[in-house]
Amino acid sequence: MINRRSLLQIAAGGAAIGAFGLRPAYANMPKLKEKDTYKIGFAQTESNNPWRLQQTKSMQDEAKKRGWQLVYTDAAGSAAKQVADVRSMIAQKVDVILLAPREERPLIPAVMEAKKAGIPLFLIDRGVDPSLAKGGEDYVAFIGSDFVEEGRLAAEALVKAVDGKAKIIELVGTVGSSPANDRAKGFADYIKDHPGMEVIASQSGDFARDKGRQVFETLYQAHPEATALYSHNDEMTMGAIAAMEAAGKVPGKDLIIASIDGTKDAAQALQDGKVVVVVECNPNFGPAAFDAVVKYSKGEAVAPRLVNKDRVFTKDNVAAYLPEAY
Ligand code: AHR
Repeated sequence: MINRRSLLQIAAGGAAIGAFGLRPAYANMPKLKEKDTYKIGFAQTESNNPWRLQQTKSMQDEAKKRGWQLVYTDAAGSAAKQVADVRSMIAQKVDVILLAPREERPLIPAVMEAKKAGIPLFLIDRGVDPSLAKGGEDYVAFIGSDFVEEGRLAAEALVKAVDGKAKIIELVGTVGSSPANDRAKGFADYIKDHPGMEVIASQSGDFARDKGRQVFETLYQAHPEATALYSHNDEMTMGAIAAMEAAGKVPGKDLIIASIDGTKDAAQALQDGKVVVVVECNPNFGPAAFDAVVKYSKGEAVAPRLVNKDRVFTKDNVAAYLPEAY
């Protein structure tokens, strides 16, 4: 069975370390030499939505700007392929691995094997199960958004828009991923103090537009009494809007919609009154991730969790945001 002790033994090359108690943070982490240029591995999850494409572009732009080599892989939506991608980066002896883990548990072996190979690894945008791997001990740091807070902000805006009364369909992200888990939690925790807010159906649309459309269509047919949609990302939102319109419904009137990300399509839907709120999840990780690598190479303290500040877009501020939307 996979547990933290067995994984620590993989990372330590099988040596018994438990007897000496816990090591101080970073004492046991691979070091990174200070150099003018690095070979950086970026293990992407999938490339099926504008958010992912923008995240990849941000990494590529930053590597180009600094003259660093980027080894890029796309796991095409498969956690097993992403583990293999990280193994290939280890074999290619990259200096650092930036990993956007598709799901919280299946990527743990990749994290531990990078550590065992002496390659510092940063988690980018998504987290792994904190009971199995920790920042400062098993990987250098997590850099990303506070997904629980994103869910809370979406709930807060939705409660306000519907005066505390709604029958909600929830389109959940990829099962087992940290944004799906945390965005569900942040939303649920907030609405539990609002008895008029009821989630009547909840199902995964895998963060994908077409899947979101299909799942919404099925759930709405089963629950025509729904008055609101909470969608864990903009791509599923756009799929659901297409399904609503095909059913002769008016998004923004028949169903009030809260979404997360900040893609151009969703920002436009917000401006058009189809969506009431888009909570930002910023995909532009290049500068922060590469700065953290430099800092780590200098032996400076890097916090185990570096949290992005996300904005909340409504009809009042979306016009100013649209030009930078992706
Ligand atoms: O991990 C961040 C989420 O993953 C984004 O909300 C989504 O669009 C992406 O696929």
